[in-house]
Amino acid sequence: MADSDPDLPASTHDLSAQFRKDVLVGLSQPQKVIPARWFYDLRGSELFEQITSLPEYYPTRTEIGIFRECCPKVADLVGPGRVVVEFGAGSAAKTPLLLDAIAPGAYVPVDISGEFLRESCVALAERYPDLPIIPVEADFLHPFPLPAEAGQGCALGFFPGSTIGNMTPAPAVDLLRSMRASLGDDAMLLIGMDLIKDEQRLVAAYDDAQGVTAEFNRNLAARINRELGGTLPLDSLDHVALWNEPLARIEMHLRATRDIAFEVCGEPFSMREGETIHTENSHKYSPTSADLLLLAGRWEPVAHYFDKEHLFMVVLARAISTDMTA
Ligand code: AVI
Repeated sequence: MADSDPDLPASTHDLSAQFRKDVLVGLSQPQKVIPARWFYDLRGSELFEQITSLPEYYPTRTEIGIFRECCPKVADLVGPGRVVVEFGAGSAAKTPLLLDAIAPGAYVPVDISGEFLRESCVALAERYPDLPIIPVEADFLHPFPLPAEAGQGCALGFFPGSTIGNMTPAPAVDLLRSMRASLGDDAMLLIGMDLIKDEQRLVAAYDDAQGVTAEFNRNLAARINRELGGTLPLDSLDHVALWNEPLARIEMHLRATRDIAFEVCGEPFSMREGETIHTENSHKYSPTSADLLLLAGRWEPVAHYFDKEHLFMVVLARAISTDMTA
């Protein structure tokens, strides 16, 4: 097992142990479930990168289009000298659109993976030789101190991609509150949120014709086999993407095409034909439900930006300093 290797850094031990725990606990539930964060090993990250340019997967290109239009307006509202704190390692396509528009004082990408952070910082440092870039290796689900080297400028949180949608509402609110605590009283937040739309379009975005999303989903089972000594029969697990209307989310599952039995870390599991492992939620919002989520997370929406088809939304919000939602 990887987590018994004394040569691995502590955080790798921790992650590996957490993966094992999440999988063993998740596969023991009546509705089997594995948290979506485990999609993103090297292969999973490559596949996600491919997903972002699929014809059916509208969110990435639509959000980039919105940023092109809105960043100059955001610049007027936030003013110069902001410390841009990006939650995640930074996207080569999106981060420069913001940094070019707003005359930032510093850029602080925050990610649990030091490797991704370092890679994205090298590229950005070449592009912005005069901008202080201070990566922070942290789990941003919990409050963390901003680095002193970032200076005294007010913070602008940046959380693109509708990644918030991969969390159910209670953890999403916890995350927004945690961001509010990390960023401080005069902070603002620029966040991407995917909108509710017709079911066909939503399902197609998560079940593309080329089968890349299916491979992304199945890679989770392959990762369990690789890293946890699993024997999941990959060819007997179908990719399923469905729209859960009452909960306003796309769900991804792996569905057994026959009765199967397998092991993970030496523990036995079985699935009946048709039984699923729930692997991801991707919540979609209306402008109102998005605002309510932000308010519950201690952020007051200031401006909303949309594409022409209203497929996706970018919200600029300001930190609420008095507890008006309690
Ligand atoms: C990362 N996240 C916002 C993506 C989404 O749309 O929920 C992950 C994804 N899953 C399947 N396709 C894309």
